[in-house]
Amino acid sequence: MIKPIEGFSKLSKEEKIKWVANTYTNNSEETIEILKKYWSNDKKLQQLHDEFIENTITNFYLPLGIAPNFLINNKLYAIPMAIEESSVVAAASKAAKFWQNRGGFKTSIIGTEKVGQVHFMYHGDTAKLSSFFTKIKPKLLSNVASIIKNMEKRGGGINNIELRDKSVDLPNYHQIHCTFETLDAMGANFINSCLESFADTLKEEALNYSNFTERERRIEIVMSILSNNTPNCLVRAEVSCPVDDLKEHHDISPLEFAEKMVRAVAIAKVEPYRAVTHNKGIMNGVDAVILATGNDFRAIEAGAHAYAAKDGKYTSLTHASIENNIFRFWIEIPLALGTVGGLTSLHPMVRMALEILQRPNAKELMQIVASAGLAQNFGALRSLITTGIQQGHMKMHLLNILNQLGATTAEKKTLTTYFKKHTATHSAVVAAFENLRTQK
Ligand code: MEV
Repeated sequence: MIKPIEGFSKLSKEEKIKWVANTYTNNSEETIEILKKYWSNDKKLQQLHDEFIENTITNFYLPLGIAPNFLINNKLYAIPMAIEESSVVAAASKAAKFWQNRGGFKTSIIGTEKVGQVHFMYHGDTAKLSSFFTKIKPKLLSNVASIIKNMEKRGGGINNIELRDKSVDLPNYHQIHCTFETLDAMGANFINSCLESFADTLKEEALNYSNFTERERRIEIVMSILSNNTPNCLVRAEVSCPVDDLKEHHDISPLEFAEKMVRAVAIAKVEPYRAVTHNKGIMNGVDAVILATGNDFRAIEAGAHAYAAKDGKYTSLTHASIENNIFRFWIEIPLALGTVGGLTSLHPMVRMALEILQRPNAKELMQIVASAGLAQNFGALRSLITTGIQQGHMKMHLLNILNQLGATTAEKKTLTTYFKKHTATHSAVVAAFENLRTQK
């Protein structure tokens, strides 16, 4: 039986590795060797990574790929993508090239509003709470003056704070709902600091408010935290072209192709099982850029899916239409991103990714990420409605299978050439590999 460990975080990195390897793996020497293989030889760089989180034992690599030829608002980008799934970068690049010759991506920012809330319990007369809030509002704001000073200088700050009565949903539950403009910062620390100050002021002022009864005075702050639901931090990206320009397509005519694309999106709009997968494909592109640029992909995922369900039913984040012989394909997605603060200046890869993207501000990054998501969805739907997804997927996955089988560079070359003309299923690859080995 494995015993719990006390004081793990106080062990040295070597000791932590030894403990994990000895306690949980069958071949601890091999485990230790693998873990150490991924350490950087550059001591400073390794220390930086060690200090990003608690209990670091090594680094976890993901490939960083580049999807070139993204024409966005007439500017060409090569988009860095960090992702393990084999066909994502290839699909993004292919879609980018396709639209590069058809006017590229046109994008616009719909809003940049961030949200945070102080959640609290109040037992009493809600009309009195409302008058109390109006009275203390100037104090709530003056008490955050030092926190917001720099943000305000740059043109950001607090947009609005309001009291919301949520007691219909949960007895005695109320909140201060706040909206913010955090410019190029994702703004989590800024928002949470403001909220915690609001909470302190609220609690203190309530204790001294003479119109409250004893019970009403005892406001219970439950928590103060930003919301990852940012429906008004929204970007739109669109591609369009005359239907006839959708040529290059397989056995079907441009019009059939356009109509099938519209139908594929229509299915994702009405059928949540399909919508989830459809949006997952979008997030393949979105997350890969978010990761490469040091943003928080969990926050973006949570916000995007909440947006997809905002009308009470989970639906597609993309839309498609054919009107007057023009095919249009677009996305609207909330993306609360930052290009300053957080990892952006700390992580050398993130700094480099932002440099490759020509040092975008947060609004530009929103537009780049939305375009990557739209391209990914276009690529996935294009395959799904024509050849099926497996052809491209297996072509890219082929190397993974060959690596698993332990193929040499020469064998990989031979089999990659072979599978240009043959369908690559897992069993077909294994059979061809074994065949090649026996021939030798
Ligand atoms: C796979 O990672 C993503 C797809 O399933 C997306 C889709 O079905 O639209 C291909």
